[in-house]
Amino acid sequence: MSPFSGKPSPAGLAPFAGRDLLDFSWIGKEELRVIMQTAAYYEEALKEKKRLYDMDGKLMASLFYEPSTRTRLSFEAAMHRLGGGVVTVAESSLFQISSTAKGEKLPDTVKVIEGYVDILVCRSPEVGSAAQAAEHTLIPVINAGDGVGEHPTQALLDIYTIIKEKGGVDGLTIVLAGDLKNGRTVHSLADALSLYDCRLLFCSPAQFGMPAAVINKLKGRGVRVEECCSLDEAAARADVLYMTRVQGERFEGREEFVKTEEAFILTNRHMGRFRPGALIMHPLPRLNEIAPEVDSYPGAAYFRQAANGLFVRMALLALLTGSVK
Ligand code: CP
Repeated sequence: MSPFSGKPSPAGLAPFAGRDLLDFSWIGKEELRVIMQTAAYYEEALKEKKRLYDMDGKLMASLFYEPSTRTRLSFEAAMHRLGGGVVTVAESSLFQISSTAKGEKLPDTVKVIEGYVDILVCRSPEVGSAAQAAEHTLIPVINAGDGVGEHPTQALLDIYTIIKEKGGVDGLTIVLAGDLKNGRTVHSLADALSLYDCRLLFCSPAQFGMPAAVINKLKGRGVRVEECCSLDEAAARADVLYMTRVQGERFEGREEFVKTEEAFILTNRHMGRFRPGALIMHPLPRLNEIAPEVDSYPGAAYFRQAANGLFVRMALLALLTGSVK
């Protein structure tokens, strides 16, 4: 049951038009509330089978230099659901189709894209790439993941999911588990959760701990943060258990993790330890860190979570282009 109804007021919408979303630097509690309300408004509209034209005549560019299933397809679906159009570059260093292959640099690429579209969604393996894109274009830029840096739209759909499933975030114990060093989703999510009155428990093998810079920032804001390296302990304490995969693409020497891997696989064995109503989340894709047997647990929300990405990304596209009708 969504705690939101209707559409945000013009005053609520105003701070978004023309902005970039690179991280949570300008997102406060009120901005989060407006994003959640707008997402719920679009979810309701789609549930009622309404045809939306909020972005009629507008175009979005997807510029993806890293693989993606959920982020790119949900952004593109969001644009279509809002009546807008999409142009796409989806490539990797092994398969290049854009003029990046000829040596064109990101600043020139985005200056050119600016002439074609109204908003740019950008993913790259380089930390800071979305910020660099934003520096060189006047259209809004959304960071769809920059290396091990940030993935703010994932964090927003994560929070939307927690609110939908648990009724709110305040008062919860939220465990972020797995490869917290290299996982950009958990960096953004920890930042966003610091706006709420919740407890954070970081659970990882020692070599994959949350970066000190993230922990220090959270503590500086007065967030209650603990660390542990036992998934059994974390599973027993969590209201929300947010699992992540080993980010194998970010480092060499995967064997290092394989030694500890077994201890970080969530299985039926953990279910008996869960608190009543505990929610299991995962940004996906998963490898083996959640056994398929867990999927039938009612609190296993990861596929519902992925579906929520559509509504949240509709909200972001419409808000940042000033198109919420
Ligand atoms: N969660 C997420 O970012 O998934 P994709 O890499 O498939 O976009």
